[in-house]
Amino acid sequence: MDIRTVPNPLVRAGGRWLHRVNQRHPWSHNDHFHGWILRRLPARRRRALDVGCGAGLLLSRLRSRFDDVLGVDADATMAAVSTERFAGDPRVSVRHARFEEVDGTFDTITLVAVLHHLPLETALRHAAELLEPGGRLLVVGLARAESLTDLAWDVPSSLLNPLVGMTRHPQPVTEPVDDGGPGMPMRDAAETFAEISGVARRVLPGARLRRRLFFRYTLEWTRPA
Ligand SMILES: C[S@@+](CC[C@H](N)C(=O)[O-])C[C@H]1O[C@@H](n2cnc3c(N)ncnc32)[C@H](O)[C@@H]1O
Repeated sequence: MDIRTVPNPLVRAGGRWLHRVNQRHPWSHNDHFHGWILRRLPARRRRALDVGCGAGLLLSRLRSRFDDVLGVDADATMAAVSTERFAGDPRVSVRHARFEEVDGTFDTITLVAVLHHLPLETALRHAAELLEPGGRLLVVGLARAESLTDLAWDVPSSLLNPLVGMTRHPQPVTEPVDDGGPGMPMRDAAETFAEISGVARRVLPGARLRRRLFFRYTLEWTRPA
């Protein structure tokens, strides 16, 4: 939900103020969840795949934990940024490719702020096929806010967001920064958390989904051995 578009003028004005504060004290909601991912890696750690690797920050965290890490991104600029970042690194390879084109097998597959760019059910089925038995899918996702419960999560997230920004980035930046980084492909989520949960639980029996603060949900699934 973007409270800058709410009909009430007071709420809209508050939303604009929060947005300005967030631009001056930026922090990444996506990177914030890397710790959640690293705490859930499976015991077997030969190959990891980060789908939609963007600028490659998660790859840099996975590289010391796996023998081999592959990042793929459908965007040429993002793939080039990550390729350059890991040039000469024998553990990390980066491909300019769509997830749909990836084959092989992996012990872990991560998608951070990427699943809403993909056809949901097809992408979950493809991830399940690529995982080794015992392998783990870890998703940090975005959902469209629709129900009162969705909004009840977004309101505290909106209010806490500038506090976290001012703590992590106390000096305001001179050039206001929007979400993501320069050139990062972004899009709004089409599916709600309820819709995503329904599909995920059907396609990936036993999947665990949880709403999280800061406009994200998490999905965790281990392929049965
Ligand atoms: C919002 S960005 C998130 C990037 C990164 N995971 C992060 O946390 O900063 C979404 C990324 O997914 C990539 N993407 C979109 N569709 C894709 C697809 N079909 N296959 C692979 N990557 C895709 C975009 O190019 C973009 O880099």
